[in-house]
Amino acid sequence: MAGPLKDKHVVLGVTGSIACYKALDLASKLMQAGALVDVIMSYGATQFVTPLAFRSLTHRAVVTDSFDPDSEYSVEHVALAQQADVIVIAPATVHCIAKLALGLADDPLTTTIVAATCPLVVAPAMDGNMYDHPATRANLATLKERGVVIAGPGIGRLASGLSGVGRLLETPELLGHISYAMGKDGDLAGRTVVVSAGGTMEPIDPVRVITNHSSGKMGYALAEAARDRGANVVLVTAPTNLADPALINVVQVRTAEQMGAAIQEHAEKADALVMAAAVADYRPTEAADQKIKKSDDDLNITLSKTTDILKTAKGNFVRVGFAAESQNLVANAKAKVDSKKLDLIVANDITAEGSGFGSDTNQATLIDRDLVVEELPLLSKYDVSNRILDRVKDLFRD
Ligand code: CTP
Repeated sequence: MAGPLKDKHVVLGVTGSIACYKALDLASKLMQAGALVDVIMSYGATQFVTPLAFRSLTHRAVVTDSFDPDSEYSVEHVALAQQADVIVIAPATVHCIAKLALGLADDPLTTTIVAATCPLVVAPAMDGNMYDHPATRANLATLKERGVVIAGPGIGRLASGLSGVGRLLETPELLGHISYAMGKDGDLAGRTVVVSAGGTMEPIDPVRVITNHSSGKMGYALAEAARDRGANVVLVTAPTNLADPALINVVQVRTAEQMGAAIQEHAEKADALVMAAAVADYRPTEAADQKIKKSDDDLNITLSKTTDILKTAKGNFVRVGFAAESQNLVANAKAKVDSKKLDLIVANDITAEGSGFGSDTNQATLIDRDLVVEELPLLSKYDVSNRILDRVKDLFRD
């Protein structure tokens, strides 16, 4: 298991809202991501779900009382505050947000927060009118100014039956915010990284396309890894089955032409361009306006060459390409370093075990502009991404 939460100490604060049931899922997913999770519940939260439910998921004591004589910690709030790599309050009620803005410390959660110096994520959940109240808005603005990461709230159905702003974000989005909070001052802070992902789709007619097997997982992992090191990330992606990652500017495109235009627009301000997308080299010369009907004859489709985005993108950024090869991996990849004037290429043998399309792992070979070859072991795509970003960091132009 690899990822930004592995072996991290997360304090999960849970305050009284019906969205407490979602915090159970968050606790479970934090555990699955390899984190150590200490839960602190407000009295209100214990009215919605039991401490036992969290304890069963985290395998650790749940704090509900500042004055518990049986606590394993001598001074609980200070002990938890010192250990924490990040504190996340999900759900955070209006009342809890107001207390944080004032710096009040009258229960185990708020005392822990006042004693802590680690990043804090606050995920509000409340009725739409409570969220819109000027006091709530002012309190959230105060927290934001203080560097607190405000996660959401999302828009959708509320417990009141009404629809509006106030829903607790879903677990994957919360995990994204937590990773971001831990890494926002990381070694890529202040840098803009443009990443492409997915396989482009070139229309034959309104219902058919030419595409490839790219899942987009490598590009999405790169975008998340760059975000988790503090970069400002633009992810230009062809259609995939993956959810938009939190706190990343996601630009959806379909064709190679659209991808080229989006990349050129964002690359101008970029410090690095990492082309993980599988861009079609050819597209149907003419896409039919209407669905092509079956006939007794064979059908020939004339293809035209697309523009090579990586080769032609203008700007003074670090240029990283991918080479998915089924034979002569290193020789083919080296030729691409030269022909596309790359700073680095990530070569993949698509026939190797654990490296094919859709896999969560990758065995990559990095080749730099001096054609020096570094073979990486089989790693998760997130870890491969960090190895690529380590190299990118050393290549920045200034
Ligand atoms: N690429 C690109 N624009 C294209 C085709 C490819 O920007 N029209 C980028 C890819 O995103 C990748 C790199 O160029 O980072 C190499 O892509 P790849 O498909 O491996 O190589 P090609 O140059 O297309 O050559 P071939 O398909 O013959 O291997």
